[in-house]
Amino acid sequence: MTLFIDGIIYNMKILAIETSCDETAAAVIEGDMSPKISSNVISSQIDIHKDFGGVVPEVAARAHIENIIPVITRALKESHATLDDIDYLAVTRGPGLIGSLVVGVETVKAISAARNIPIVPVNHLEGHLYANFLDTKPQFPLLALIVSGGHTMLVLVREHLSYKVIGTTRDDAAGEAFDKAAKLLGLPYPGGPAISKAAEKGDKDRYSFPIIDLTEKPYRDKDGFLRYPEPSLDFSFSGLKTALLKIVKEKKSFTKGEVNNLAASFEKAIVDNLLKNVLLAIERHKPKTFILSGGVAANRKLRENLKQELENKYPKVQYLIPEITLCTDNAAMIGAAAFYHIKKGSIEKESLIPVPNLKIS
Ligand code: KG4
Ligand code: ZN
Repeated sequence: MTLFIDGIIYNMKILAIETSCDETAAAVIEGDMSPKISSNVISSQIDIHKDFGGVVPEVAARAHIENIIPVITRALKESHATLDDIDYLAVTRGPGLIGSLVVGVETVKAISAARNIPIVPVNHLEGHLYANFLDTKPQFPLLALIVSGGHTMLVLVREHLSYKVIGTTRDDAAGEAFDKAAKLLGLPYPGGPAISKAAEKGDKDRYSFPIIDLTEKPYRDKDGFLRYPEPSLDFSFSGLKTALLKIVKEKKSFTKGEVNNLAASFEKAIVDNLLKNVLLAIERHKPKTFILSGGVAANRKLRENLKQELENKYPKVQYLIPEITLCTDNAAMIGAAAFYHIKKGSIEKESLIPVPNLKIS
């Protein structure tokens, strides 16, 4: 049972649920000063969607309905808990696929009504960010790069739960670019891991893809002085995909070795484009910690290159990445974010409905 003593919470147990896309996940998070994983169960639908080459929303929603209760039951069992031990329910409210989100939200509302347990709604993107608070201690102000299948953004966090988006994608997300590129190269879904695997055997310098700079052109102000706008921290990945499409169309057929070369060159392009803006943002905002999160944070090249660049250029900035299983969608990260909402007393009382395009700030 939770105890509040001198502003410190003791012994809090949260049952967290995540169903925003194609993973049905439940976790039990507990902790006093910081959140810890007691159990973390993920039922992936990759095998179901693989045949379609991507997530089919209707199929995803149906699979969540089938999986949600067994996944919750297992999460409770693995944590040696029952619903009697749970103080709070946490759930992803958005962003995500509406049919998928509804399953998690309505399940949590039913448990809440039956057991009188309060609900903490969590933004999926802040969940990704808080995956880094599960076994490490980031320092504020921190800079986060959230890179997933649906989002690519640089977020400045001055204190818990206070977000400022300083860069975002103008078109495709980085994960989406990986997924689309994999399709063009005849590699399986999900594209990120498939490209990454093929890239290991390829030559990253065989093809060159552009580094996109979205900085506005210099302009003359009303007094005739030339002004240079600040370099943009926004991203764009659709041009890389179009460049790849052009190569694929021109060549028509490829050897396996050539597919590996294209995968390696494309992966390098995504990583370099991400890296450029991260370094610019660190230079401009001087964070104490840099956090990498979201599904694409599982990419080995991205993890390694960022580490190397930060160690060389900003050795004083703490660099944090979640372990691989906490990069892609999971419920432990939702529980971690909920932990800080509860600590701050910022639990919304209004009736909970899923919001497919929920923003982070
Ligand atoms: O965060 P996530 O699990 O779901 C969303 O919130 O979108 O991210 C999924 C995305 C997919 O686009 C997938 O291709 C990408 O993350 N991804 C990767 C890797 N593992 C997953 N991208 C590159 N390299 C990887 N190893
Ligand atoms: Zn995600």
